[in-house]
Amino acid sequence: MQTLPGFRDFYPDDCARRNYILTKWREVARRYGFVEYDGPVVESMALYEKKSGGELVGQMFTVGATADPGSLKGVLRPEMTPTLARMVTARERDFKKPMKWFCVPNFFRHERQGRGRLREFYQLNCDIVGEPTPAADAELIAILIDMLRAFGLTEADFAVRLSSRTAWQQFFIQSGGKPEDEYEFFQIVDKAERNPPEKTDELLRKFNLTAQAVLDFMRSKTPTAELVPVVEGLNARGLGGFIDIDYAIVRGLAYYTGVVFEVFDRSKNERALAGGGRYDKLLSLMSDGKVDLPALGFGMGDVVLANLIDDVPAAAAQRDAWLKQERACDIYVVVAKEERRSDALALVQQLRDAGQRVDFPLTAAKVGKQFQTAELLGATRAVLVGDEWPQVKVKTLATREEILVPIGEIKTALGQ
Ligand code: HAM
Repeated sequence: MQTLPGFRDFYPDDCARRNYILTKWREVARRYGFVEYDGPVVESMALYEKKSGGELVGQMFTVGATADPGSLKGVLRPEMTPTLARMVTARERDFKKPMKWFCVPNFFRHERQGRGRLREFYQLNCDIVGEPTPAADAELIAILIDMLRAFGLTEADFAVRLSSRTAWQQFFIQSGGKPEDEYEFFQIVDKAERNPPEKTDELLRKFNLTAQAVLDFMRSKTPTAELVPVVEGLNARGLGGFIDIDYAIVRGLAYYTGVVFEVFDRSKNERALAGGGRYDKLLSLMSDGKVDLPALGFGMGDVVLANLIDDVPAAAAQRDAWLKQERACDIYVVVAKEERRSDALALVQQLRDAGQRVDFPLTAAKVGKQFQTAELLGATRAVLVGDEWPQVKVKTLATREEILVPIGEIKTALGQ
């Protein structure tokens, strides 16, 4: 039996690769003073229906008990932002503002699979709540850039395409559009680069707008007054080279309000690596106006990132070096004489208690076989317990160098 399409098994090698990504994400988040949180895997469908909008709502997996399928009305979480908004509004007073929170959950979306698109994926979320100034937008985009630099990716590999829903809002209103039609208009803009102009013309007709007018605005590269301080904040950090002003970005989800952005690889082989922006009205919407806090954040998926790491040789080499470090054991205890097994077990225990990663053969095996296992497990040293007892042989596997060590001095010999 195989997994359902789009879901993933994580064999130990896959798990190690996933852990590489999650570990780096956590390291960078800590460097920026973000704290980790999490929510439930199953949420109520209503949480997303109004708040997320767009395609996402039709992509949710519903959850029910086999005995009573209709009992729960739950869905597997497809994203984090509504959960975060729910959690923050419930206990808003307990947290000092601005709040800088991150999480690394797995999400589920019933999407058509393709490169970088699965039905289960991990996504780093970083969000800042309670700070209306552009200093927060710059800080958020700075952490986003550093999240990718941590993997050995550079300005040559990816860019942040920075845009603004406010700019599009003004464009729409100035062209005679009504605020209640805004989201429909954003969705047309979101697809304008992909759809043929005739199709966009047709969709825009009811707003008295043309594909040409939308495409002309999209291609203007001048930052709006809202974006200028964000760009300045990034320039001051030396990160300006990662930014492209690009009004083609509007984001599909309904809740975004101001600055929005997506990250793409420069070669454009992949779908977006990450996306986010301001959602200043969501917390108020979630709490029926009781908690009105500005917020902004982004999500970065593991699938697209893993593809890009594979594509960039320096990033792949950095990952492979990390994976090697993470090998299963440091020291392999070779039981060269079965009569000495209980001494070997005592040694294994002593080394493990001292924090070493240690393995040994559970049953009798030829010494040559044991060395093969040691190599396979990535051990750097083998300790032979045999004829020389109460001395043991310590062998450095890379150089084949051997020294004889009295058992009482083994910890010093192994550099502890
Ligand atoms: P999103 O654009 O839906 O945003 O997802 C962000 C990233 O998650 C995408 O750029 C992509 O890398 C990854 N991703 C999304 N769907 C899939 C999939 N089916 N398979 C693999 N990777 C995927 C959000 O989810 C927002 N809630 C982000 C956010 C946080 N905005 C504010 N705070």
